[in-house]
Amino acid sequence: MDALEILRQVVVLVHLSGFALLFGAWAVEVFNRRVQVTSLMSIGLSISFVAGLILAAPWGIPYELNYVKIVVKLVVLLVIGALLGVGSSRQRKGGTVPPAVFWLVGILTLLNAAIALLWR
Ligand code: HEM
Repeated sequence: MDALEILRQVVVLVHLSGFALLFGAWAVEVFNRRVQVTSLMSIGLSISFVAGLILAAPWGIPYELNYVKIVVKLVVLLVIGALLGVGSSRQRKGGTVPPAVFWLVGILTLLNAAIALLWR
């Protein structure tokens, strides 16, 4: 592996760590039967987002990136971000997060991982 390839794999690791934080933070709330969003979810999402943008840059890798897939993942991520925004603003105002908003955060996060792995 050359240095650039190692660096790119490190960014993939950061990207996956962001996903793990987002999904893990969400799973903790499911496990504790709390329908709420947390700042760790937003931190995980931000890490995935920044690392994902870096990975989408032309790295001179020997295969073509699937930009249709990347744009779909980006749109799904932006929707998750909007849901987290709606949820946290409801919480700040002392209200509750609509269950559909909470469940969609986890489902769309898994969907993005499925798109990343199953769509080549
Ligand atoms: C919650 C959101 C996301 C999840 C769960 C996710 C998940 C993943 C996973 C599991 C991989 C590894 C797949 C592989 O090695 O083939 C990956 C790679 C990648 N992701 Fe994401 N991703 C997310 C958001 C994004 C976003 C927003 C972008 C771009 C704007 C992006 C761009 C990429 C790129 C370019 C790769 C490398 C693909 C390759 O080397 O062929 N991801 N992602």
